[in-house]
Amino acid sequence: MTQMQDSRLDDRRLAAVREDFPLLRSGGGSLAYLDNAATTQKPSAVLDAIVDYYSHANSNVGRGYHRLGLAATELFEQARETVRRWIGAEHPDEIVFTSGTTAATNLVADALGRRLVGAGDQIVVTAMEHNSNLLPWRRLCEQAGAELVVVPVNPAGVVEIADFTAALGPRVRIAAFSHVSNVLGTVNPVREMIAAAHRHDVVTVVDGAQAVPHRPVDVRDLDADFYCFSGHKVYGPMGIGVLYGRRDLFSTMGPYQVGGGTVKGVSFEEPVAYQPLPSRMEAGTPDVAGAIGLAAALRYVDGLGWDALRAHDADLVRGAVRELGRLDGVRILGDPGHDPSGIVSFAVDGLHPYDVGGHLDQHDIAVRCGVHCASTFLDSLGLVGTVRVSFAAYNTWSEVERVIEALGTVRPGFWTTEQPTTRFL
Ligand code: ALA
Repeated sequence: MTQMQDSRLDDRRLAAVREDFPLLRSGGGSLAYLDNAATTQKPSAVLDAIVDYYSHANSNVGRGYHRLGLAATELFEQARETVRRWIGAEHPDEIVFTSGTTAATNLVADALGRRLVGAGDQIVVTAMEHNSNLLPWRRLCEQAGAELVVVPVNPAGVVEIADFTAALGPRVRIAAFSHVSNVLGTVNPVREMIAAAHRHDVVTVVDGAQAVPHRPVDVRDLDADFYCFSGHKVYGPMGIGVLYGRRDLFSTMGPYQVGGGTVKGVSFEEPVAYQPLPSRMEAGTPDVAGAIGLAAALRYVDGLGWDALRAHDADLVRGAVRELGRLDGVRILGDPGHDPSGIVSFAVDGLHPYDVGGHLDQHDIAVRCGVHCASTFLDSLGLVGTVRVSFAAYNTWSEVERVIEALGTVRPGFWTTEQPTTRFL
């Protein structure tokens, strides 16, 4: 692994980081991969950890009373411990492995929400939520006869604490909100939001999927009740994610799914006795290789160092905002340069975002364009979609220059002329 703790990612070091990522080398290295908010590429350290696990330690965990099974269990629990330390949780049993952020929010909505939320109650979300942190709460409201309260987002693309606080009242049971917007890359005042929610005895669920790749997160410092993220957006494998839950709250929750690994004992006569955390929330064979790969990814991030990552991120985001802002007809959405978090979203006047994304793809530049799984937010912005450039540690300034240059030749295409209001991505 490339060691560069606490130093800037200068050209020499950036070249070394890029060498860590096999996909960036394949195909001649001409791809400018700027869709990291959707998923990051994986360093060799992560790929090697997965291959190593399957080659030398593969066995089911928490079950086999044989050396291989015990060794795999040990590696799985070490991965949990790595995650615990990485997000500042107090106890390893506060860390539950899920398949991703979506599974984590669904878990809380089902295992806590169904118990906590009844007819006439309220759940607070924000207008910027990704479907994964909107639909579980909306469905819970429909099931429980509760009301969904949506807090607006200001023109800079953040939730104002006054608006959030105004939504809190005696009927609110849960508040679910993003740390960082996956559409705009803007950062909500989550510590203040959590404190305000707690003053009203409201349980908080924070979607940290776009935060953890770009900033150190300490769940105890935030005082979060639940905080979740996906491994694949932070250089880890797809199919693994994390749900942190404060032990006093989490341990009161029954299982989400039931099955192997969740029970102490089952008989046909007695009530089922479930395991304590985290096993009771991890029914079935877990993604052991995924957890081990995620732990390798988090160690990789630590090896880069937050100072270097944050400075690199700020250079790319602020530089992109500056240069994009100079182009005629390009409108940056929100204020992503205020507290850079790896994302810059923009609209091009008179052009459908799919035409812009398709044009960039012709120039070997991968970005995401469309509604970013947040069509309700795009509705509130009055847009059919945006073009989203999102960065990771391996991105370079010359890749931003390629975007700027390519945008100089973008023209209306099929979507702008034939399907100007169609959106599906
Ligand atoms: N949630 C991911 C994104 O915003 C897929 O692109």
